[in-house]
Formats: sequence, C-alpha cells, structure tokens
Amino acid sequence: MTSLRETPALLCPRRYAEGPERSMSRLSLLVDLASLLCREVELAALLGAAGERVAEALGADRASIWLVDAERGDLVTHVALFPELPALRLPLGRGIAGYVAERGEPVRVSDAERDPRFDPTSDRETGYRTRTILATPVREAPSAPIRGVLQVLNKEGGAFDDEDERYLSALGAQLGRALSLTTLCPADASHPGLTLRGPFNHIVGRGAAMSPVYERVGRAAGTDASVLLRGATGTGKGLIARAIHVNSRRQTGPFVVVDCTTLPAQLVESELFGHERGAFTGADRRVPGKVELASGGTLLLDEIGDLPRESQGKLLRLLQDRAFERVGGRETLSADVRVLAATHRDLEAMVRSGTFREDLYYRLKVVELTLPSLEERGPEDIAALCHHFARKSAERHQRPELQLSEDTLARLLRRPWPGNVRELEHWIESATVLSIDGEPPLELLAPATLASGADLSVKAPDEIPPGLSLAEASRRYAARCLERCQGNRSEAARELQISRNTLARLLAGRSQ
Ligand SMILES: Nc1ncnc2c1ncn2[C@@H]1O[C@H](COP(=O)(O)OP(=O)(O)OP(=O)(O)O)[C@@H](O)[C@H]1O
Ligand SMILES: [Mg+2]
Repeated sequence: MTSLRETPALLCPRRYAEGPERSMSRLSLLVDLASLLCREVELAALLGAAGERVAEALGADRASIWLVDAERGDLVTHVALFPELPALRLPLGRGIAGYVAERGEPVRVSDAERDPRFDPTSDRETGYRTRTILATPVREAPSAPIRGVLQVLNKEGGAFDDEDERYLSALGAQLGRALSLTTLCPADASHPGLTLRGPFNHIVGRGAAMSPVYERVGRAAGTDASVLLRGATGTGKGLIARAIHVNSRRQTGPFVVVDCTTLPAQLVESELFGHERGAFTGADRRVPGKVELASGGTLLLDEIGDLPRESQGKLLRLLQDRAFERVGGRETLSADVRVLAATHRDLEAMVRSGTFREDLYYRLKVVELTLPSLEERGPEDIAALCHHFARKSAERHQRPELQLSEDTLARLLRRPWPGNVRELEHWIESATVLSIDGEPPLELLAPATLASGADLSVKAPDEIPPGLSLAEASRRYAARCLERCQGNRSEAARELQISRNTLARLLAGRSQ
C-alpha cells in the first residue's frame, strides 16, 4: 500500500486567504471533497488530503480526522485505517478528540496546557507544542450517531473564533454525510462509528484474496507502467482500472475506455488513432482517436484479447515508442497516455496459437493483476458486497433496504456465481425491486436450493432437447445466454467466449 507521502496530492494545496477570498477557499474545499467522493480514491489518501486542506482553510498549523472504529469502539487517526497497521488510537473520552467523540459537542481551547481535558502524551512523544485547539464531531446531522472528530491545532496568529467554529461544524456535518457514501461507511446507520469495507473508495472487500490486488494497485498507481488486468467476467477489472487512474498522477486527466470486442477490424485503427479528412469514403473531417482523447490521462483497452491480430502491431508501436499516425495522415504524433489493458481470455494460449503477438503480450504485462472470482473471495467479502449493493440498490430505486438475514446470506454463499460480482450485484438489485417489506422474494432464493444439490431431479431450464441440428441447438443456446445477460450482447459474447459477430451469426441460425 502506498504511504500518504507517495500518493499524489488529491486536492491542490491553497494558501490561507482572508475576507471573501477566504469564503471562496472554504467553499471550494467542500466542492473538491464532493467531487472526489464519487471516485475510487484511496481512502487514507483522501482523508489525509482533506485534513491538509481543512488546516489551510482555517489557517491552522495542523488538522486531523479521527474516526470512531465501529469494530473496536475507539478512535483512530485517518492514516491508520487498517487493523493490521500500527494505529494511533485513543479510547473514547481521552484527550480533546476523545472528549468530543463522547460528548458530541464542539470544543474550543485557547491554552491547551491549562485545559484538564488535554492529553499531552502525543506532544511529549513528538516534541510538538499544541497551544490552541478547535474540535467538532463528524456526524451526518446534529442528532445522528457520531462517526468521528475533526480537529485543528494552533491557529496562525491567535485563537480560533466563533466563525471558525461554525465553519468547522459545517465541515464536520459535510464530512459525516460524505463518509456515509464511501466504502468507509457506518455498518449500521443508527449506531456510532464506521467500518472500513475496503481501502479504496467504492471497492468493497478486505479479505485475503483482494490484498495482493490492492497492494499492486497502490504500487502501480504512482507510475506510468502498463498494467494487465486479468480475471473472469464481472470480477471488477474495469473498477480496478479506474482506481489505478484515480490514484495516479493522471487523476485530473481523462480516463478513456476502448472496448476491443465491439471494434470490427477495419475500424480499430481509426477508433484508436483517429483519421484525417478524406482518409476514406465518408471521412469528411478530421476525427481524433481515443489515444488523442486520452492525452494526459489513461487509456483502458478493454477485452484486449479480442483486438484483431492485424491491429496488434500498431498498438505495440504505440506502447514502445509512444508514437502513432492518424489514418490517412503523414504526421507522426506522440501520445501522452498511460495504457491499461483488461481481459478474461487465456492470453498465453492465444500467444501459443499465434492469435496474440508475444511482443505485445510482454509489453502489456509490465504489471499483472489478477482479480479473484467471487467464490475465491470468501464469505466475509461476499457478505460485505451484498450489504454494499443492498444499500446502493435501495437508494437507486427508492426502496427499503434488502434485509439480509443469516439464512439468506448462507443461501447466497452456496450458489454458484459464474457472472461473479456483477451477477451478485444484479441479483441484489432484482431482489430489492421485487421484495415486499425488504425480504428477498422466495422465487429468487429458490435456485440456491437447486445449486446446493438438494433437488437435482428438476430439469435444468437451459436443457436443449436432443435431435436438433447443430445450427438450431447453437441458436437456442446463444439465445438463452443472451437472455441471461439481459439482452447485453457484449456480455453474452464474452460468456460464450466468441466475438459479437459470431454471436450474431449464431442467433441468426448459422452455426458457421
Ligand atoms: N470489489 C468490488 N466492490 C464493489 N463493486 C464491485 C467490486 N467488483 C466489481 N464490482 C461491481 O461489479 C460490476 C462488474 O465489475 P466490472 O465491470 O469492473 O467487471 P469486469 O471484470 O470488468 O467485467 P467484464 O470482464 O465482464 O468486463 C460493476 O458494477 C462493479 O462496480
Ligand atoms: Mg470490464
């Protein structure tokens, strides 16, 4: 995991301002925070950067964000989100932060040494001298359970005033609401504290199977190295690719995705590199390609295994020399992009069979990252994902949050999930929409019994009768797969491990 110092600044530093400029700086801090919260940022870096900006906005020497750890019931500093790391922890009630967390009211101190609530231990250890303190609870609303404490120390040139207190309290409420939308969210809205569901925002799961993934994301994000994301369909390759971008130096640049499955061979080059006016019939103006659009940012080549062999050489040149030409153009352009690629295919087998260039394969996999299947992620991660999707679906559809009893979770754990996290997400969404009083409908739970082997005599719904021609059997099989994928042809093609064109041929009843 990257340390805070290695992580690029998520919020640009601002100097302390006065008057209207000060109000603007304070307002822009809120806006910046809100825009970051919807991205897959590393939470420790987000909170660290937010702390720095809070200190700047208040003209304080330092700011710290303390969070109430729902699992342990104590206070923990923002940099120590992981139980496995040595954390700066405080019992509730100790020091000014502990006092605020326990009482739920703001505290302003103008001479720390004379205040009996002040705990001098950390000053003694670090040699820092705390003089003035302003601390306020972090919580969604005045009567809501406490999630943490926002604290600023040593205001430049004097003591914190009433306006500072009002502003910090508003920030505390804002932060409380914002945190409830992150992966560091309350396990239970009516109880104090927060639970960390994963180190990167919106990416859920703290189980052992995901830790090498997070570690590699953390290491790779700080560089421009190509990353090859592997894993079965629906395991989160796209999500992790965004996390790499969002936590990199390119975070303010564009994140552009090229889906190689949807590109017919003739269009690949133009899609990637753009074309000049008159390059081919119908090219009535110059059009930039995805490589140009991604300039200063990150380009994700999704389903790289489907990239036609004839286009692989051009891509290799881009990766090797950062150089390319628009279709129909003479000028060699240089690309300022970081390339990520994702695939569920067995690229090694494709290299062996000659359908994927070996040199390109090595160029792409400078860092290789394999996402575990849902089954490999273990019961704790699956349960955390279920709760996460239940919350999201309830919000999206304005429905009561799905109740996930132990029995329901046990049934879900027994089911096979060939579509991995995506399939689980869709299941929770259906159950949320169809549920009555938040209980998952029985008909949705029923296949779990079948999957657990309780009643294998039931005829599988996908069974295709014997005696059909190959073309008809293939057509029916493809149509059922498409149905399962809710009409999404790319997804169906991926599941069947064929191109979209082949899928279209099968659906038209042509097996060749
Ligand atoms: N760890 C996770 N936490 C929260 N949501 C996740 C996680 N992993 C995947 N998802 C969600 O599951 C869905 C599928 O993920 P994603 O599209 O990234 O998978 P993929 O591996 O790219 O799939 P495909 O190979 O089919 O393109 C998305 O909605 C994504 O947000
Ligand atoms: Mg994907």
